[in-house]
Amino acid sequence: MMGVQVVGRKEQQISGSPPDKPKLMHGGNYIKEGRDSSKSTWLLFSPERDEAGSLARFLNIFSTHGVNLSHIESRSSARRPGYEFMVECEHGAGDFGAALEDLKKNVGYLNIISRNYKDNRCAVPWFPRRIRDLDRFANQILSYGAELDSDHPGFTDPVYRARRKYFADIAYEYKHGQPLPHVNYTKEEIGTWGVVFRKLVELYPTHACKEHNHVFPLLIENCGYREDNIPQLEDVSNFLKDCTGFTLRPVAGLLSSRDFLAGLAFRVFHSTQYIRHHSKPLYTPEPDVCHELLGHAPLFADPAFAQFSQEIGLASLGAPDDYIEKLATCFWFTVEFGLCRQEGNIKAFGAGLLSSFGELQYCLSDEPELREFEPELTGEQKYPITEYQPIYYVAESFESAKDKMIKFAQTIPRDFGVRYNPYTQSIDILDSPKQMKDLLKEVHQEMGLLLNTMDKL
Ligand SMILES: [Fe+2]
Repeated sequence: MMGVQVVGRKEQQISGSPPDKPKLMHGGNYIKEGRDSSKSTWLLFSPERDEAGSLARFLNIFSTHGVNLSHIESRSSARRPGYEFMVECEHGAGDFGAALEDLKKNVGYLNIISRNYKDNRCAVPWFPRRIRDLDRFANQILSYGAELDSDHPGFTDPVYRARRKYFADIAYEYKHGQPLPHVNYTKEEIGTWGVVFRKLVELYPTHACKEHNHVFPLLIENCGYREDNIPQLEDVSNFLKDCTGFTLRPVAGLLSSRDFLAGLAFRVFHSTQYIRHHSKPLYTPEPDVCHELLGHAPLFADPAFAQFSQEIGLASLGAPDDYIEKLATCFWFTVEFGLCRQEGNIKAFGAGLLSSFGELQYCLSDEPELREFEPELTGEQKYPITEYQPIYYVAESFESAKDKMIKFAQTIPRDFGVRYNPYTQSIDILDSPKQMKDLLKEVHQEMGLLLNTMDKL
C-alpha cells in the first residue's frame, strides 16, 4: 500500500509457520549439503542395569552399523543408579535405523531428539542445547538475505544488491564467541538511518512505553545512537549483555520460527545488519537495522521484557509444530506488535510499531480493535502482513504477560521441562524427580539468602 510504512513484512516468515522444506534459492550455496543439524539426531539413553563397560557396548552398536558420533556425553542418571548417555549421531554414513533398532533392544530408557522428528512419532524435535549450537542455524536459512522480491525497492539497484550480499556473507561467516562484524556504513545508508531516526524520536515520548523511553537515552549515551550514526551491533549487544544478558547475533537470511524462537531461550536475538533502500526510507518490506536497533534493542535492555522473551523461547524448545505456530503468533502480537497499559494510557512496546512512523500513530488511534493478551487465544489469531494490524493485544505489564506465557507453556505437550543455565549457557533438560529435587535445593538456598538479607534491611 502506497504511503504506508510497514516494518517486518518478511518477519511473518520468521515468526510465522515455517515452510515444510527450506527453499533453495539462487543463493543455494548458503544451505550447506554437508553436516548440519537436520542431518543428525541426538539420543539420550541409559542401560537397563548399570554394568561395567556398558558405554563400550553401546558404542559398538553404532560402529557395527557404521554410524558416526560427533558428540558423546555421559552423566550420572537421574532415573536409576548408574549412568546415562547422550550421543549425537551423524546421518549419511552407516545405517542409523538399524543402529536405533539394536539400541532399543539394549536400553532401559531411550529418548530421541531429532530434526527429522516427523518420521518418528515418538521423537522430540531437535533443539539447541548449548549456545554455540546456534551456529548451525546459519546452514538452515530459509532464504538468502541478498535475494530480493521483484517489488522490493532495491530490486533493480545493483549497488544495493551487492551491499545486501556483503551483509549476508558476513553474517553467514559469523560464529558464536567472535566479535560482531563492524560495518562501515556508507553516506547514503547513514542518510537513510537519519530520516527514520528523526521521524521516530518525535513520537517516542508520547507513543512508546516507559521502558523504551527509559532505555533510549542510555543507548544515545552509550551506543552511538544519533541521527548521523548507525550504531554497531557489537556496541548494542555489549550494552544489552550488561543490562539483561541478551546478546545480538547477525543473521544472513530468514530463519524458521522454530530456530528463531530457540535463540530467545539463550537470550540471543538474531538481528539483521543491513539497512532498507534509500529510495523509500519510511518503508521496508523486511526487518532491517532500523527495525532491530530502534524497535527491538531498547526493550531487550528491560529485565522483565527480557524474561518474557526468553520464556517464549524456552517454551518453544522441543514443542510440536502447532505449538511453535501459536508461540510465533504470540511473539508477533507482543514483541513485534504489542501494546501495554501504563498509568491508564495505551503505549506501544512492539518493535514493528516502534520502528514504523505510520503504524506507531495508527496503533494508538481509535481505528484498530484492542484485546487483552491471553496466549491461548492470541496464539490462534490470524493476522495480515501487508497492512497495518486490525487487532492489537494489550498486556497489563511485562510481568503479567510473562506469567501468562509460563502458564501457557505448561499446556505444551512435552514430557520434560527445560531450564536455561546461565553459567554454562546451555539448556538443562529436566525429566526426573531427582533433578527437580536438586533444583529445589538451589532455589531454597537462594530463598534463604534473600530472607536473610531482607531481615538485615
Ligand atoms: Fe522484528
